[in-house]
Amino acid sequence: EKDMGADLERVLVTQEEIEAKLVELAERIDEDYRGQDLLLVGVLKGAVMVMADLARAVHSPVKMDWMAVSSYGSGTKSSGVVRILKDLDADIAGRHVLVVEDIIDSGLTLSWMLANLTSRGPASLEVCAFFRKPEAAKVDIPVKYVGFDIPNEFVVGYGLDYAERYRNLPFVGTLAEHVYGGSKPT
Ligand code: PRP
Ligand code: MN
Ligand code: MG
Repeated sequence: EKDMGADLERVLVTQEEIEAKLVELAERIDEDYRGQDLLLVGVLKGAVMVMADLARAVHSPVKMDWMAVSSYGSGTKSSGVVRILKDLDADIAGRHVLVVEDIIDSGLTLSWMLANLTSRGPASLEVCAFFRKPEAAKVDIPVKYVGFDIPNEFVVGYGLDYAERYRNLPFVGTLAEHVYGGSKPT
């Protein structure tokens, strides 16, 4: 059995810190959307963990839908050109939509998604990003709910992957250099 812990350099955000932040964000969301129908839109696959936990932390009866998007081109995800791999199941016109993301890195994925979703005419459109790397921002994204601002390092866990691994770590840590071979994260 492989020990994921051996691939980590250090813990950045603990499981306890994650749980406390979920409660804090859920309280704000309950307050802000009181009396309104709320649709949470999760961005596959990274947002699966935060979506599942946040939905259980709020007390309002939310609905959930999912989008999967992918960047074109070179394999780096910094082109900003996005295509939809899986669209929402339902129309969002006239609805209150909260996009739930695990992390904002360059911001290009969400920038494209917000433009796309705006064109569908939601009643409101906001973003909850559980992690954000301010130093990596290429575009400014208006985020109503932020969990943690973290340094621009190679982070994994709580949905965040490296080559599809480590998503199921219940905390967030930095990846040891021997795992990714010393090349900078993109
Ligand atoms: C990651 C992350 C965000 C996006 C952030 O997704 O989950 O969705 O990148 O990067 P950006 O701000 O630079 O656009 P990824 O494309 O790796 O897919 P995944 O969620 O399936 O891991
Ligand atoms: Mn993602
Ligand atoms: Mg990823």
